[in-house]
Amino acid sequence: MRHIMSPLDFSTDELEKLMDLANDIESNPDKYAHVCEGKRLATLFYEPSTRTRLSFEAAMMALGGKVLGFSDSTSCSATKGESVADTIRTVSCYAHIAAIRHPKEGAALVASMASKIPVMNAGDGGHQHPTQTLTDLLTIRSLKGRLNNLTIGLCGDLKFGRTVHSLIEALVRYTGIKFILISPEELRIPGYIRDDVLDKTKTPFEEVTRLEDALPQLDLLYMTRVQKERFFNEEDYVRMKDFYILDKEKMKLAGPDMLVMHPLPRVNEISVEVDSDPRAVYFKQVQYGMYVRMALIMTLLELEV
Ligand code: NCD
Repeated sequence: MRHIMSPLDFSTDELEKLMDLANDIESNPDKYAHVCEGKRLATLFYEPSTRTRLSFEAAMMALGGKVLGFSDSTSCSATKGESVADTIRTVSCYAHIAAIRHPKEGAALVASMASKIPVMNAGDGGHQHPTQTLTDLLTIRSLKGRLNNLTIGLCGDLKFGRTVHSLIEALVRYTGIKFILISPEELRIPGYIRDDVLDKTKTPFEEVTRLEDALPQLDLLYMTRVQKERFFNEEDYVRMKDFYILDKEKMKLAGPDMLVMHPLPRVNEISVEVDSDPRAVYFKQVQYGMYVRMALIMTLLELEV
């Protein structure tokens, strides 16, 4: 039985296959409409979510399956003191596959060790968010036509942003990748990503503070929200939250083919006036998130059409 905790749980060849499947689902949704008939997905969300939970649920429904679950920790037995391990053991009796989001780093891994069904990490604290990375890779591959030879700007909260950590881990496996890490001093990438991922793989990267300096060089700009819920005090959050605001003026500094991506939710970091720019693809990214989760559910349940 297979789980997904980090993007590295799939080889790059396996990821290619998964993305091919997602693209085929996109072009021929009817072909896949019954593949999960009789199967149930459990969504165990101990932290807020719009896209991740709903795209998992929509994905299972689009495959002909059913869904059950909870969308906040106060509506399940966690409030009575039940452990994640006991919860997943229980859910294993009701469902065939589960997606779990939890504020603690490592919670999904704990769940996977106690589980009798495949577990998908839908975000564990500030650590990893592998299914967002699958979404991001599919978006880049579909819209840029490649996953190599890219200069990628990652901007915002690089310290607590789990989507950024997973995306870096996934992308260092391709050739010709260069990162420009754009953040305030206090929100720089954690040491374990710098040393164990970037340095270890000899991936070129620069750390800068000004978005304007990076923009002209980028093939892709990945904006992120300052992760309010992971700050220890409100004051620091307030000081950081509007550090970057991508607007029409700044977009003039970018090349004509530079994609703007964002895992969403957006707060102020991308001005709504940018939404109509053809380079802004964050809502297309949302759509790819459903197709890739359909492909992932099929792959982990070992289902084919
Ligand atoms: C992200 C997350 O939850 O980490 N959202 C998402 O899943 N698309 C990013 C965020 O909350 O800022």
